[in-house]
Amino acid sequence: MPEQDDIEESRIISSYTKEEDHQEKSLRPKTIKEFIGQEKLKKNLGVYIEAAKIREESIEHVLLYGPPGLGKTTLASIISLEMNVNIKITSGPAIERPGDLAAILTNLEEGDVLFIDEIHRLNRSVEEVLYPAMEDFELDIIIGKGPSARSIRLDVAKFTLIGATTRVGLLSAPLRDRFGIIERLEYYLPEELEDIITRAASILNTKINKTAALEVAKRSRGTPRIANRLLKRVRDWAQVHSHEEITTDNIQKGLEGLGIDDIGLDDMDRLYLDALISKFNGGPVGVETIAACISEESETLEDVVEPYLLQQGFIERTARGRTSTARAYTHLGLETPANKVQKQTELF
Ligand SMILES: Nc1ncnc2c1ncn2[C@@H]1O[C@H](COP(=O)(O)OP(=O)(O)O)[C@@H](O)[C@H]1O
Ligand SMILES: [Mg+2]
Repeated sequence: MPEQDDIEESRIISSYTKEEDHQEKSLRPKTIKEFIGQEKLKKNLGVYIEAAKIREESIEHVLLYGPPGLGKTTLASIISLEMNVNIKITSGPAIERPGDLAAILTNLEEGDVLFIDEIHRLNRSVEEVLYPAMEDFELDIIIGKGPSARSIRLDVAKFTLIGATTRVGLLSAPLRDRFGIIERLEYYLPEELEDIITRAASILNTKINKTAALEVAKRSRGTPRIANRLLKRVRDWAQVHSHEEITTDNIQKGLEGLGIDDIGLDDMDRLYLDALISKFNGGPVGVETIAACISEESETLEDVVEPYLLQQGFIERTARGRTSTARAYTHLGLETPANKVQKQTELF
């Protein structure tokens, strides 16, 4: 199966990391204070960090979950910076064998943060090594093979595991239960994204006024990563057209050319809605069927297309499948089924 990043590569509003996001590091906030939005989560984390510092202990294991591009990796690095400890970054698929994890764990120093991205993709044999390490900071490793194999127990330094996942439902219960802190990241409000865009613009040495920043924000699907990317695209547009400052006109023209409409939907969203409405009468229909119909992976639809359409009230998830709402018909410029029926009746 191709990686999601490959499938989504052509999509400018893909919320997965792309080649062009290489500046992400410089745009990353470094303190909780600089981190915009997610107020409830920030407040909680602030307390946990403060308390751990007072007790001179490391912070409990943290699980961060939510759609891509909302700030999970950023938060993991903020936690390590605020705790004044090192962070070691890896990902579920990168840790192939139990021995790989054992090597990582035995190299950690007291208090270090181990960040495992895409933690739902850890394989079971690796997970089993992780359990005692998370719980008792111990490691059981098997040495030798066959009848002479024996298990030895090693101590590991008291570390903090920070796991990140876009699909918390795929995490095994025993793994989930071993996190003391579980926090979900929410989509950002346009006003929060406006602040994120203004901040990023100043780091990128670009001028953008408040109205224009809000216009970019509205098209960013609640996602900072997309906001930063769109900002760079409209900056290009403004520069090519010799504008000193990014204007709302730059935004409209610059993003229109990329197929992004005024609320941030792109071709793939419209393809999805159009299939749901015109091929399946607005549903209910299963996501696999829609995926096959528009030649897309159902995982991509579930991870990045549907969450935003759901949040915007274009579709609903029912036990029997997906259905479209009146808002979807209106947005696509189609008549809602109810209106159609009424008009037909009026004809008689
Ligand atoms: N709250 C925020 N404030 C400012 N910028 C943010 C915020 N959250 C995310 N970003 C920006 O969005 C980009 C993607 O965030 P990241 O932490 O990589 O998301 P995730 O790990 O959830 O996919 C980062 O480069 C960062 O600049
Ligand atoms: Mg990340």
